[in-house]
Amino acid sequence: MEQQRSIVIIGGGIIGCTTAYYLSRHPSYSSSTTSITLLEASARGTAQGASGKAGGLVAKWAYPRELVDISYPEHVKLAEEHNGTERWGWRFVSCGSWEGHGEDLGDSGSGVGKGGQKKSLEKTLGLEDVSTTREETGLPDDLLWVKEELTTSYSPMSGPDGSAQVHPYLFTTSMLELAKEKGVLAVAGSATSIEREGRRVTGVSYRDSENQTKTIPATHVILSAGAWSPSLLPSLPISATRAHSVTIRPNSSTTIAPYVLFTEIRLPSNASTMHSRIVTPEIYARPDGEVYACGPGDDSRLPKNVDDVVVDLAACESVRDHVASISQELRDGEVEKRQACFLPVVSVGGGPIIGEAEKIAKGLYIATGHTCWGICNAPGTAKAMAELLFEGKIRSGNLKKLSPSRFL
Ligand SMILES: Cc1cc2nc3c(=O)[nH]c(=O)nc-3n(C[C@H](O)[C@H](O)[C@H](O)COP(=O)(O)OP(=O)(O)OC[C@H]3O[C@@H](n4cnc5c(N)ncnc54)[C@H](O)[C@@H]3O)c2cc1C
Ligand SMILES: *[C@@H]1O[C@H](CO)[C@@H](O)[C@H](O)[C@H]1NC(C)=O
Ligand SMILES: *[C@@H]1O[C@H](CO)[C@@H](O)[C@H](O)[C@H]1NC(C)=O
Ligand SMILES: *[C@@H]1O[C@H](CO)[C@@H](O)[C@H](O)[C@H]1NC(C)=O
Ligand SMILES: *[C@@H]1O[C@H](CO)[C@@H](O)[C@H](O)[C@H]1NC(C)=O
Repeated sequence: MEQQRSIVIIGGGIIGCTTAYYLSRHPSYSSSTTSITLLEASARGTAQGASGKAGGLVAKWAYPRELVDISYPEHVKLAEEHNGTERWGWRFVSCGSWEGHGEDLGDSGSGVGKGGQKKSLEKTLGLEDVSTTREETGLPDDLLWVKEELTTSYSPMSGPDGSAQVHPYLFTTSMLELAKEKGVLAVAGSATSIEREGRRVTGVSYRDSENQTKTIPATHVILSAGAWSPSLLPSLPISATRAHSVTIRPNSSTTIAPYVLFTEIRLPSNASTMHSRIVTPEIYARPDGEVYACGPGDDSRLPKNVDDVVVDLAACESVRDHVASISQELRDGEVEKRQACFLPVVSVGGGPIIGEAEKIAKGLYIATGHTCWGICNAPGTAKAMAELLFEGKIRSGNLKKLSPSRFL
């Protein structure tokens, strides 16, 4: 007789939801012999954390290599199979690093600002001719939404099919919807402990939306609670970094060519300190015309629940000002979302952490610590998890370096 499996996934971010999808698509899965439950603590549903607020870049050149090699082709396949273009904004995208100067937003903004020119001279002092042509900077002909005259250099980070993007919120919620079609159950509740008997997991206790404590019996528990994972397994070396982002809607007569830019912007000197500052926002053009931009991380404390993450509006304003300093289109656009989220960082380096933590308990699986590449690496992580649970071994690649035994 076939084994009865009861799998509980803790956390409805991209890792948990994509894992639910791959489990429900594994050839050994049948809803009559296996139950799959996904627990998510937010009262607002899934993808309320980093997975709904990320940029969404999917890159062949991301890391770690062995996980990207599984993930990238899976992203392509998922998009083909489920109409990702329509459903989650999948497309190949040009991606490059852009270096240049920001204009002082104090001036009304048409043409080259005083600040911009001043910085231009400073940066190029003794280095290059000020009269750099577009060709010399490497700025692509169709990248018209950053100012040519502020550009020092542009270099592509991959060939034409080496970078793609998804809308991370739509991707994550779609994965769960597709998993539900095959019988996965999503439950609103905050896991409070992973129950064990001897050296085996037996269930997950959680508080439901009425704050009642309940327990779901489990033969397999997958911990994918992102930055919150150590609250259930304190020995996990995971720390949390907060990052702010905004989305900007350019006016309807503006077309924004599909580029993802990693920028290095030298801002105009501060009159009192006489020092210029370099900022490095990332900017993502999206298929629906929206532009996403995110700023640096900070070490603000992780709240208990994702719904209590505090957004510092001044940090959002800085991100907006920094990207507006190199783009008239973004300066004229309307800021729609101002948000913050925490990404899970492996504090001892390396990661993510993927595999069974059998030293702690048989049946306890970990899938977290994806730092800045969780959107890209979710399909590889999820496929590996499904293989490990149903076949006892990861077949798609060698992920030994990511094994929990190396981190716990
Ligand atoms: C600004 C920014 C930009 C990014 N851009 C990119 C990008 O372009 N490409 C890329 O690949 N990656 C990107 N990332 C990284 C990516 O967002 C993360 O690696 C990824 O979202 C992590 O997913 P997760 O599912 O592990 O965590 P999360 O999205 O944080 O999900 C964890 C979930 O677990 C839930 N949870 C927590 N505790 C409990 C509990 N006790 N019980 C039940 N549920 C619980 C939380 O509510 C949350 O929904 C970016 C990150 C940031 C911050
Ligand atoms: C994908 O969506 C587009 C646009 O709605 C539609 O034309 C196409 O038929 C869809 N393809 C599939 C396979 O559903
Ligand atoms: C939920 O219940 C726990 C334990 O009984 C209690 O400590 C907590 O304050 C309650 N939370 C709310 C929001 O009522
Ligand atoms: C200039 O720098 C000082 C000191 O860091 C700061 O207090 C001030 O706000 C800055 N001024 C501007 C215009 O950014
Ligand atoms: C839309 O934005 C573009 C680029 O910033 C600007 O040139 C144009 O005048 C704007 N049009 C309207 C109607 O606001």
